[in-house]
Amino acid sequence: MAREGPTCEEERQQEYLAGHGLRHLDAIRDAIRDATGGQTRAGDRAGRAGAATLEQAGLPLAAGAGARPPAAYLALSPPELDERIAAAKARLGTSLVILGHHYQRDENVKFADFRGDSFKLSQQAASRKDADYIVFCGVHFMAETADILSGPHQQVILPNLEAGCSMADMADLDAVEECWTALTAASRGKLVPVTYMNSAANLKAFCGERDGVVCTSSNAPRAFEWAFEHGERILFFPDEHLGRNSAVKLGVDPAEVVVWDPQQTDGGLGPNELASARIVLWKGYCSVHMRFDVEQIREARARYPDVRVIVHPECRREVVAAADCDGSTEYIAKVIAEAPAGTTWAVGTEINLVNRLAHEHPDKRIFCLNPIVCPCSTMYRIHPAHLLWMLEALVEGRVLNRIQVAPEIARWARVALDRMLTLA
Ligand code: 13P
Ligand code: SF4
Repeated sequence: MAREGPTCEEERQQEYLAGHGLRHLDAIRDAIRDATGGQTRAGDRAGRAGAATLEQAGLPLAAGAGARPPAAYLALSPPELDERIAAAKARLGTSLVILGHHYQRDENVKFADFRGDSFKLSQQAASRKDADYIVFCGVHFMAETADILSGPHQQVILPNLEAGCSMADMADLDAVEECWTALTAASRGKLVPVTYMNSAANLKAFCGERDGVVCTSSNAPRAFEWAFEHGERILFFPDEHLGRNSAVKLGVDPAEVVVWDPQQTDGGLGPNELASARIVLWKGYCSVHMRFDVEQIREARARYPDVRVIVHPECRREVVAAADCDGSTEYIAKVIAEAPAGTTWAVGTEINLVNRLAHEHPDKRIFCLNPIVCPCSTMYRIHPAHLLWMLEALVEGRVLNRIQVAPEIARWARVALDRMLTLA
């Protein structure tokens, strides 16, 4: 397939890898791709873990054909893709459910049975027990979560195994275990691990096994509250910014919040900080949301004095503070849908969602806070040709690109996810 979409996030990922001594990643990934017949997404993670094989990295093997649809699919025009996707979907009937994250491109979202944020889609995955196949138009951690929450008779499919999340990749089990050991040795107060949904299944399992919880952008402050009901201190990974924004919402003194940098000895923290911090945030970020800043908010307000600014809580603290409101992708969509006609909205989140909102609400002025913002390039890796390829294989009785979490990991990850699903 011809290379598609902007590459700015991928460039930043390369910078990140280079800055973290991971220049060898491509070579490792290529070796794993050769050894595994093209499972590059899993290969990414194995490479980061420095393992020569997927098994060495302890990664669940995803069955299927990898990232690239056969050439015949790539030659199809948009109307042909639409027609064949609709036909395959109709043939599969109620045995199929398609879940679509808000950041997916329109060409996929229009076929989704359910559209939503990470929280809403995980609820759908847990409740749609009638479907044999859950095709997840989203990214890898979302499909893993769907596999964990769905029944044993259900199979979860990610249309492109390369659709990952660069933020989720910023924390891995070894590094989190190292941090945990240092923090528990430094202080007696009970430490509760909280992981963002945007993390690998083995980190969710880490939390499940240690009386911790998963959260999403829609319930992170509530998850922090829950954690403080069950312990004295929180370790939150991998998003520093969602963590800080949640701490502020809970009224935690900023002096009691520290950042653990996994690239530094003892996270770059001194003995006093290790011993006294109430909230320890992992130094991770979303490169899409790092592109919003306070100056853009000033400019929007100068241009449209009555503008309302709404941003995702993965944005930096000062951006959230300067905005009028913040929340998950579902929250953003709901607030704008319910706003009166004639209102103006500057939105700080991924561009596919912003453009869709602008299209769906022509009675309001809706624009992206950063006019040259990137889409989430990993979400963008799912092309309608991938979706069609998956669906037509299912019609023939073949399951491609299945995401399957190893049972021991799934068991503990489910404990942490179930705790999240019961949060009020
Ligand atoms: P939501 O849970 O708000 O959809 O966020 C997921 C995500 O990846 C945002 O970058
Ligand atoms: Fe990950 Fe950021 Fe993409 Fe969300 S927008 S999936 S956090 S890279």
